[in-house]
Amino acid sequence: MFYYYGEIRNFNSVVSLPIHMRGLEHLKKEAGIAACEYVSNGMKVGLGTGSTVKYTIMELGRRISDENLKIVGVPTSESTRILAQSLNIPLIKIEDVDKLDLTIDGADEFDINYNLIKGGGGALTREKIVANASNAMIVVADDTKKVNILGKFPLPVEVYVDDWEYVQSEISKLCRGNVYLRGGEISPYITDNEGYILDCNFGPNITIPSDLENIINSIDGVVDVGLFVGICDIIIISSPSGINTLINQNGRLS
Ligand code: A5P
Repeated sequence: MFYYYGEIRNFNSVVSLPIHMRGLEHLKKEAGIAACEYVSNGMKVGLGTGSTVKYTIMELGRRISDENLKIVGVPTSESTRILAQSLNIPLIKIEDVDKLDLTIDGADEFDINYNLIKGGGGALTREKIVANASNAMIVVADDTKKVNILGKFPLPVEVYVDDWEYVQSEISKLCRGNVYLRGGEISPYITDNEGYILDCNFGPNITIPSDLENIINSIDGVVDVGLFVGICDIIIISSPSGINTLINQNGRLS
């Protein structure tokens, strides 16, 4: 069973509500807030993007205001930058720091080896830059994100605008043509980098994510692919029965 591959710690304070009251939004909030335990004074923190880590950012804002927490953040997207600024979280740019202490971010899927699919929110390239510049990465997610093999969630690939059709045809050879321009040709989704996103339907078949990451990143026109391999150190998972924290025994926080 998936949960038993890593060290498990229970956060008893979050298991008191009956199951019928624990909707998905509540689970996101619990996971997001639980990650704040790892944040302390003086840290430089990568701030991820999405509807789960939003709660992490809101809690950090609360601690800055109520508890005089002293941190600086590096946002992974424009939406996160706007949220963090609204909460008076001091921000710096990634190019202005050598190394971050920690990045906290969400995921669209994770497997038992702490591999991730990210980019459902379109911020995958900056998310990977910030995570790679950090001494550790914590993922916050509800348990619907866990899979045995990655790929049911369409794999996001950011591409240069002029090259999307070429990249689409190249990736189509790898996944039988199931590659779609996010938003469609009439009004394509535009990333913060002013690129496009291709959503690639591999199905639950990505058995060696590192190989696929290398193959896709070697295609001319690709900015980056939403496979995060060997980056994640901890996954905080919320489920109707509470919070479990999986600690990657090969990671930097074990
Ligand atoms: C943003 O680009 C993504 O990588 C998100 O981190 C990911 O999609 C998880 O988002 P949710 O927490 O909203 O599911």
